[in-house]
Amino acid sequence: MRNIRKEIVEKLYTLRRGWKEEFYDCIKDVARHPVVLRMKLYPHHGSTNCYQHCMNVAYYNYQWCRFLHLDARSAARAGMLHDLFLYDWHTHAARTGDKFHGLTHPDVSYKNASRLYQLNKVEKDIILNHMWPVTFFRFPRTKEGWITTITDKYCGACETSRRK
Ligand SMILES: [Fe+2]
Ligand SMILES: [Fe+2]
Repeated sequence: MRNIRKEIVEKLYTLRRGWKEEFYDCIKDVARHPVVLRMKLYPHHGSTNCYQHCMNVAYYNYQWCRFLHLDARSAARAGMLHDLFLYDWHTHAARTGDKFHGLTHPDVSYKNASRLYQLNKVEKDIILNHMWPVTFFRFPRTKEGWITTITDKYCGACETSRRK
């Protein structure tokens, strides 16, 4: 019994290791894009910058969507792009008067992302609707989009709790 459990755990770890490499293959061009790299300049949650947050969401999106046999590649790529708004949201309202960053940044991210890549239906849904339920009437139309509403909040909560 103990051996069977050990075998299952080892298989899961091997699978996860393999998925990690395939995950990076899916997003490497996005992760290295100079515009995307600019997200490193902006703090997001706690001591985590916007780039690292997007990388975290992309990773969990990939793992969950792969596990559930969904479009893991699109979920990972859109995870990387979902907060491509390129400003510090902590000071954004004072600088611009836009007090609704939570509602407006999905459109800004979508506009920026679509300048860089031809986005498919799943990627578009993930970027535009990831803020549900904040954007109450704008909810995801795809399973990958629903998963992102969870991974985004999960990563945000973990990053905020790691605040120093
Ligand atoms: Fe967001
Ligand atoms: Fe986010």
